[in-house]
Amino acid sequence: MNQPEPSHPELNHPELNPPGRNRQIERTVLITGASGAIGGALAVAYAAPKTRLLLHGRRLEALEALAMQCRALGAEVECHDAPLTDDARLEAWLEALANRCLPDIVIANAGQNQHVPGPGELEPWEQVSDLLAINLRVPMAMANILTPPMVGRGSGQLVLMSSLAAWHGLPATPSYSASKAGLKAFGEGLRGHLAPHGVGVTVVMPGYVSSPMCAAMPGPKPWEWPPEKAAQVIQAGIARNRARISFPFPLNVGCWWLAVLPAGISQRLLRLMGYGSRP
Ligand SMILES: NC(=O)c1ccc[n+]([C@@H]2O[C@H](COP(=O)([O-])OP(=O)(O)OC[C@H]3O[C@@H](n4cnc5c(N)ncnc54)[C@H](OP(=O)(O)O)[C@@H]3O)[C@@H](O)[C@H]2O)c1
Repeated sequence: MNQPEPSHPELNHPELNPPGRNRQIERTVLITGASGAIGGALAVAYAAPKTRLLLHGRRLEALEALAMQCRALGAEVECHDAPLTDDARLEAWLEALANRCLPDIVIANAGQNQHVPGPGELEPWEQVSDLLAINLRVPMAMANILTPPMVGRGSGQLVLMSSLAAWHGLPATPSYSASKAGLKAFGEGLRGHLAPHGVGVTVVMPGYVSSPMCAAMPGPKPWEWPPEKAAQVIQAGIARNRARISFPFPLNVGCWWLAVLPAGISQRLLRLMGYGSRP
């Protein structure tokens, strides 16, 4: 793939990252979904001198404001908006990045949520297909493209943004739950496969974190966290190469039990807690 890497001269102007400022980059972090709540908070958490941030998002205005904030904290920042769900362009973009500045940490965070439209109705198939593409296919494709050079280097960390909804499917969001359960299984498998080669894989399973996506979800949202708190916990877990980062503790334990209990009991518990479908 030799297509040029997409760039925005105005967002990535060399004067925005003065030469010499980060002469010795010690860490490169790629974050997709950086224009969103959790991705943006992660970018700020990682922003520091000698750090290169590769921030991906579709809303360039949000990305630009974030880039300014991260540069003020001392990081070198590049903004990217390659279409993630286009296999060929994703590959071209990531291969070009890998050749120039192979990331140390890759956080595949971009994702969408959607819920069933009404009683007894399923989500429109086109929407399901789009959701699976960004939530499951894209992180898997990113791992496929970036893992070989990381294995060649003998180091790297892949971080996959799953959800507590991966423990047990939620009646209001069956497709979302499936995408996140698939990503969880992929990450767990990949971790064992790559461990002998110096590449870590971390699956992140957040509960409710304040964001437009979270606000649009139906049902109760206990223990909702601000994105900054989520980013802090995720960053600390990544630094320790944790296999799984799941939070908040009480909701994680509750959702874990839903996976462990007989499925019929879990369904009843979900209804009792207000997550059941309306008749
Ligand atoms: N918030 C929660 O309660 C919660 C809980 C569990 C897991 N998560 C997961 O955490 C991740 C981040 O969520 P968030 O809460 O920060 O949501 P958010 O604020 O809505 O951000 C979502 C991000 O994903 C990007 N994105 C969505 N669809 C895309 C596509 N087709 N192509 C490229 N980029 C796309 C968005 O880009 P644009 O801004 O450019 O549209 C945005 O940057 C998601 O994977 C989500 O499933 C969130």
